[in-house]
Amino acid sequence: MAGTHRPKPDTGIRDCRLQQECHPIRSFHNSVAFLTGAAGGIGLGMAHAFATQGIKLALADVDADRLADVQRQFKAAGHDVLVFALDVGNRTALKQAAAQVVEHFGALNIVCANAGVAGFFGPLQDGSEADWDWVVDVNLKGAVNTVQACLPYLLDQPAKAHIVLTSSISGLRVYSPSRGQGMYNTTKFALVGYGEALHADLHSLGVGVSILCPGVVNTDISNSGRKRPARYGGPYEIGQDFDLAKAASTGTDPVQFGHWVLKAMQRDQLYVITHPQDRAMVEARHARILQAFDDCAELTK
Ligand SMILES: NC(=O)c1ccc[n+]([C@@H]2O[C@H](COP(=O)([O-])OP(=O)(O)OC[C@H]3O[C@@H](n4cnc5c(N)ncnc54)[C@H](O)[C@@H]3O)[C@@H](O)[C@H]2O)c1
Repeated sequence: MAGTHRPKPDTGIRDCRLQQECHPIRSFHNSVAFLTGAAGGIGLGMAHAFATQGIKLALADVDADRLADVQRQFKAAGHDVLVFALDVGNRTALKQAAAQVVEHFGALNIVCANAGVAGFFGPLQDGSEADWDWVVDVNLKGAVNTVQACLPYLLDQPAKAHIVLTSSISGLRVYSPSRGQGMYNTTKFALVGYGEALHADLHSLGVGVSILCPGVVNTDISNSGRKRPARYGGPYEIGQDFDLAKAASTGTDPVQFGHWVLKAMQRDQLYVITHPQDRAMVEARHARILQAFDDCAELTK
């Protein structure tokens, strides 16, 4: 009927089933990447993958000893790698590091806000304020601090600038019961929202965003509690029914994962899913949200 047709609002979401069409492959050869949480695990895996493409590396981590080892290894392989022993909670240190990267390499194109901790593992009703502070300070605020420190330089490199946020498949679904991951889930869901907002604000300015949502990768994350600083309650062991260490040991090789991330960056892909196992859980969650839209009419009549 004339006059009743309402155009759908533009959500900014395009049909990208033909990814190549939507996302011409970009090259990051000779770019400069700043990665946090890069002394081991996924951060180091991405660094190795990036190095194979001629990307110059600036690596940051709170673990100064392991970072120094990593620098020695890259130097032995002929790579000029800058390292920064810093805590992602320290905004001043991050800003100084970003400025030094640009001074040394002449640019900063890629930032990987990757540092993260498993945090408190247990039912939410058992977590303390200090438990919340640690996981939020590192996983969420640490990522925001990292991006904020690097963003001015990325904006100088339109079309060759990219932000990578390491969220998790735990940023897209929650187990029921949560397997003790409720705090971790909360921070990783927040990173998905942060990444979507960054994409909405920065895409037209030539800065790409990728939100990594991996399943299990073979890293040391199950031991992150051993290095919890005193101000958050000091070191602890994750003791839970769900054996995180055993699960991690069966996970993807971090360097392999790094190559998948590189491919996603080249395709300018927003969500990066590398482990399809939990698809049904994500679909069920979305179905529940859509059901609430259907229920809306009932609630509000
Ligand atoms: N391993 C997995 O299965 C998996 C799955 C999904 C997402 N992730 C995410 O991947 C990211 C990397 O974790 P990983 O699995 O490689 O674990 P990892 O423990 O091997 O590496 C994390 C690194 O971050 C560093 N770090 C911790 N706190 C820091 C701080 N305050 N400041 C600076 N550096 C700090 C650690 O020293 C360590 O080198 C995390 O954000 C994690 O949540 C991991």
